[in-house]
Amino acid sequence: MPIRTVIFDAYGTLLDVNGAARLAAAEPEFPQLAQAWPKLAADWRAKQLEYSWLRAITGDHADFWQVTQDGLDWALEAQGLEDPALRARLLALYHDLPAYPEALSCLQSLRGRGLRCGILSNGSTEMLQAACDRAGLSPLLEALLSVDAVGVFKPAAPVYDLVGQYFGTSKAEVAFVSSNGWDAGCAAAYGFRTFWVNRVKAPMDRLPGRPEITVEDLSYVPHHL
Ligand code: LAC
Repeated sequence: MPIRTVIFDAYGTLLDVNGAARLAAAEPEFPQLAQAWPKLAADWRAKQLEYSWLRAITGDHADFWQVTQDGLDWALEAQGLEDPALRARLLALYHDLPAYPEALSCLQSLRGRGLRCGILSNGSTEMLQAACDRAGLSPLLEALLSVDAVGVFKPAAPVYDLVGQYFGTSKAEVAFVSSNGWDAGCAAAYGFRTFWVNRVKAPMDRLPGRPEITVEDLSYVPHHL
């Protein structure tokens, strides 16, 4: 069945999740991040995801902005970096995260071929709109689908259902693109044609579903469609 719609994960796929810690570390106000930022970024992301999964399992949903703050607080404390000014700066940068360099041209190429493009993300609608506006991606995205609509995080099936509900597509007509191995695996098990953007050459996650295509970055996605 031909692909008509290409759906992207947001954080880590289109938006550079390490960008906030990396950009803050380059600012003169935060010399304490010079060595610490890579671990801070990794801990922050790991805890943000862990909390999203735990909240999905326990049914204790909270907005992704809350989960993002909770993950950051854990990561700052783990390295003894608690500082209100640093916390505020990191959150402001995360709110307007930069896109990966090839994200815009990837979307332009897909739209140029008449494919419909959208986002499906754990992010809140407000976070997604802000970051996509700032990165110039919004005009190329038909829908920013957020878990806000279903009150549970990925990889719960009601989240992936949002794509068919909005675009009127069957699962096999959707290409789903994620850099998160667990998201790509679970989306494949759900029934989407799945791309895994494996930027960091990670091992494939041992989950029931496996992505159909693995690429190094977003620039390779249009070649496969
Ligand atoms: C998202 C997270 C999983 O954007 O990165 O949904």
